[in-house]
Amino acid sequence: MQPQQILAILATGEALSGSRLAAEAGLTRAAIWKQIEALRHRGVPIESVGSAGYQLPWPIQMLDESSIRAELPVVIARRIGALDLYWEIDSTSSELQRRGSAAPDFSIVMAETQTAGRGRRGRSWLSPPGLNLYVSCLKRFDAGFASLSGLSLATGVIVLRAVHALGIVGPRLKWPNDVLAEGGKLAGILVELSGEYQGPCAAIVGIGLNLRLTEALREQARQPVSDLAMLTHGVPPDRNRMAATLIASLVEGLDQFERAGFAAFVDDYAEHDALHGVPLRISSAAGEFDGVGAGIDVRGALQVRTAAGMQRIDSADVTVRRA
Ligand code: BTN
Repeated sequence: MQPQQILAILATGEALSGSRLAAEAGLTRAAIWKQIEALRHRGVPIESVGSAGYQLPWPIQMLDESSIRAELPVVIARRIGALDLYWEIDSTSSELQRRGSAAPDFSIVMAETQTAGRGRRGRSWLSPPGLNLYVSCLKRFDAGFASLSGLSLATGVIVLRAVHALGIVGPRLKWPNDVLAEGGKLAGILVELSGEYQGPCAAIVGIGLNLRLTEALREQARQPVSDLAMLTHGVPPDRNRMAATLIASLVEGLDQFERAGFAAFVDDYAEHDALHGVPLRISSAAGEFDGVGAGIDVRGALQVRTAAGMQRIDSADVTVRRA
C-alpha cells in the first residue's frame, strides 16, 4: 500500500485508529505508522488523536483524473492534448519538458505532490500532497518568443479568472506575475520557453495554487504566503473542481493570448494591479530608483512615475516602499 492510499482513507476527516487503518489497508500497524510519518514529512498535517488514532484537521478531496475531466466543459475537453495526473513527480513542468516534441498542444500534467517543484530564480516550490494544486500546460506558438512578451503576466490573469469563476474575489496581481491575497503569495507562475526567437516555439506554463497551507508550511515557505482557505472562511473549493476550472481558464486564456496577445488581458490586469498608485523601489541591473506604480502598458511593461518622468520597466525586482 502506498501513502496515497492511506491519505485517501483519511480524506473524510474522520479519526481512524491505527488498527482500523491497518485492517482497511491490509498492513501491520507498524507499516501504517511508517506511511503516516512519510506523509507528515511531506507536509500533510495528520494529527494523532490519542486512542482515537489519526485524523486530518479537515476533510480533503484526493485529485482524480475522471472527476477533473467530468468538470471540464466539452469544448475545453476537446482542445486538450493530454491530461495526466501523477501521485508524485519531480516537477510537472520538467515532465512536459521531457516529453518534448512528442507532446501534443495543451498537454496538461498535474501531480498530488512534487519532489523537486521549481519556482522562479532557481527557488524551489513547496509541493505537499492533498492540499494545493500543481499544474503545467504545454502550448505551442508559431510567431516565436518575440510574440510572447506578456505571457507570464497574462497567466496571472488566467489564474485570477479561474478563482473568480468559483466566486472567490480579493486576489491581486503584483508585477510581473505574482498572485497575492491577504498580503501573501497565493499562486506562483513559472513560464518556460523553448524554440526560436522568430519561429515556432513552445511555452510550458507551470502554476502552483495554494488551497490550504499549514502553519509549518507557512514557515517553510520563507516568504509571506496565503491560500484560498483564507478567502473562503476556511473552506476552499473542491480541489478537482478548482483544477478543472484552472485548466479551462488556461486553455481559453492561452488561445486568447495566441489570437490577440497581452492586449486582451491588459484591462483585467489593470483592474487587479496591486502596485497601482503604490510607492515602489525598483532594483535592476541598471541600478535602483524609487517611484510610484502607474499601471502596465500593452506590452506588459511596468510603468513607474518618477521625479525624472515615466519609466517603463521590462525586468526588475520590485518592492513596495513602506511609508
Ligand atoms: C514562483 O516561484 O513563483 C513560481 C512557482 C511555480 C510552481 C509551479 S507548481 C507546477 C509547476 N511545476 C513546477 O516545478 N513549478 C511550477
